[in-house]
Amino acid sequence: VRLGAGRAHGKAILLGEHAVVYGAPALAVPVPQLTAVAKARRVGGDGPDEISFAIAGLESPEVTSLPTDGLQHLVTEFRQRAAVTEPMRVDVLVDCAIPQGRGLGSSAACARAAVLALADAFDRRLDAGTVFDLVQASENVAHGRASGIDALATGATAPLIFRNGVGRELPVAMAGSARLSDPAGFDAVLVIADSGVSGSTRDAVELLRGAFERSPRTRDEFVSRVTSLTEAAAHDLLQGRVADFGARLTENHRLLRDVGVSTDRIDRMVDAALAAGSPGAKISGGGLGGCMIALAGDRRESAAVVRGVRQAGAVRTWVVPMGRFAGH
Ligand code: MEV
Repeated sequence: VRLGAGRAHGKAILLGEHAVVYGAPALAVPVPQLTAVAKARRVGGDGPDEISFAIAGLESPEVTSLPTDGLQHLVTEFRQRAAVTEPMRVDVLVDCAIPQGRGLGSSAACARAAVLALADAFDRRLDAGTVFDLVQASENVAHGRASGIDALATGATAPLIFRNGVGRELPVAMAGSARLSDPAGFDAVLVIADSGVSGSTRDAVELLRGAFERSPRTRDEFVSRVTSLTEAAAHDLLQGRVADFGARLTENHRLLRDVGVSTDRIDRMVDAALAAGSPGAKISGGGLGGCMIALAGDRRESAAVVRGVRQAGAVRTWVVPMGRFAGH
């Protein structure tokens, strides 16, 4: 009987959600303060496979009903990829402090933590590509059609740009890293605000799939405009142009709103953040509820933005340091 452990964290998409499903690039940041921690306990005996999953959430300490079919699928894939020949008799408990249905990557983070805990319990060393594939297999069941950005960002240590299944971490130090003493670059914080309404990424992806099938032109325009915005925003980040970066966030919000994945409350929160002096704000993640993000120059400026979005309906907020970009 062996106990394995694994952990992963939440993520926020800066630009490019939804368009990334159709080949556009997207930018995401890890949110290290929101964690998913998994424990895998192998149960003795050599009967047939016996796998149980439980997910405990922070808000509801009792086991929640987060769809576990993706996780069940993950175990089957794990058996194959890790070449496990003995019966898979294992209890997996995931303690997820990432609010669900908020575009913060809770499903991918739970899957990643579970994969790492299984690998630990069965004493397998999995390379990064295999971990990604396993998380992605679970995401595809949970979300229908997942680009892979969540599977990667929930294990990243720096902001990353992602396109067509391939991600690259940007040369930026997150808070707490030695590179923060580098005086060059982009110095900002990100306010993440929860609208208090749960949104299903699967439903949002499905909604757009239907709309884009009816109007391929809408899809092409959306994807091409988001591609230009995200590419330009990545340059802004690397060159420290906070105001330009912010303007692109807000423009990306308008595009997402126009294709129908925002909500009235999120739109009000975006307006409130801008009115409070934020250089840019937008919905983040799958949408149809969930979270919005707003840029702020520093922690002091973020206080006004936090007040504004709370007055506009945010039920909770997090302040994430974006780090300081190391240069070009
Ligand atoms: C979800 O965090 C991001 C989406 O673009 C879906 C995906 O990329 O799989 C909405």
